[in-house]
Amino acid sequence: MRRKLVAANWKMNGSKAQTESLLNAFVAGIDAKAVDAVVFPPALYVAQVAQLLNGTGLEWGTQNVHAADNGAFTGELSLGMVKEFGCRYVLIGHSERRELFGETNADAATKVAAALNADVIPMLCVGETLQQREAGTTEAVVGEQLDAVLNEVGIEAFKRIVIAYEPVWAIGTGKTATPEQAQAVHAFIRARLAKADGDVAAQCRVLYGGSVKAANAQELFQQPDIDGGLVGGASLQADEFTAICQAAAEV
Ligand code: PGA
Repeated sequence: MRRKLVAANWKMNGSKAQTESLLNAFVAGIDAKAVDAVVFPPALYVAQVAQLLNGTGLEWGTQNVHAADNGAFTGELSLGMVKEFGCRYVLIGHSERRELFGETNADAATKVAAALNADVIPMLCVGETLQQREAGTTEAVVGEQLDAVLNEVGIEAFKRIVIAYEPVWAIGTGKTATPEQAQAVHAFIRARLAKADGDVAAQCRVLYGGSVKAANAQELFQQPDIDGGLVGGASLQADEFTAICQAAAEV
């Protein structure tokens, strides 16, 4: 049985005060025994998050990381640094990193390998744009994004990787994929992994992201290949995010 996982991606939002009030509500409202919950704050707030979540059963991580151990990489963070602040997860290859900051499939593969080496769980984001979906290339695009990582780290490594399928056209747009649309791509991802190893494919958690909210979480999480959610906008509202976690715990 794959345990459900729900992650909050705060992107470049928040403040010290908001971090504190959101996390107090998350700790009070999320049953960490029933669902894995992970918070990805802006990197500056990771120390504060670590202090507030330490010992609560909720986990945290960064939204990006550099693959190198250290060096002349102005503005970047290493895995050693994020580990020192208790990060168990790191987001890799989010569509905003790919689209706005030019990250490639090869970059994502290098970062996933580095995270695994450092014993940090990579949450690998994949997904097609609207144009790609309309051109009928969703599976080709997502398959290529997956293969880049598979070829770099091998199938066994997917026991320690979480995948987040996020159709770019559904991110921050309020346009959620229908449960059927999402399930179809999740099944494709799992089948792609199963070609390499059926057991690993059956174990690997594949989350859905893109306008997940309390109102649509349950029907998404009921799909057989959807193992939780990566939540942006709704994770900045305490009642929304705790309700999404509750839905995951109950499915
Ligand atoms: P959204 O963002 O929930 O605001 O659509 C999801 C994400 O980008 O991870």
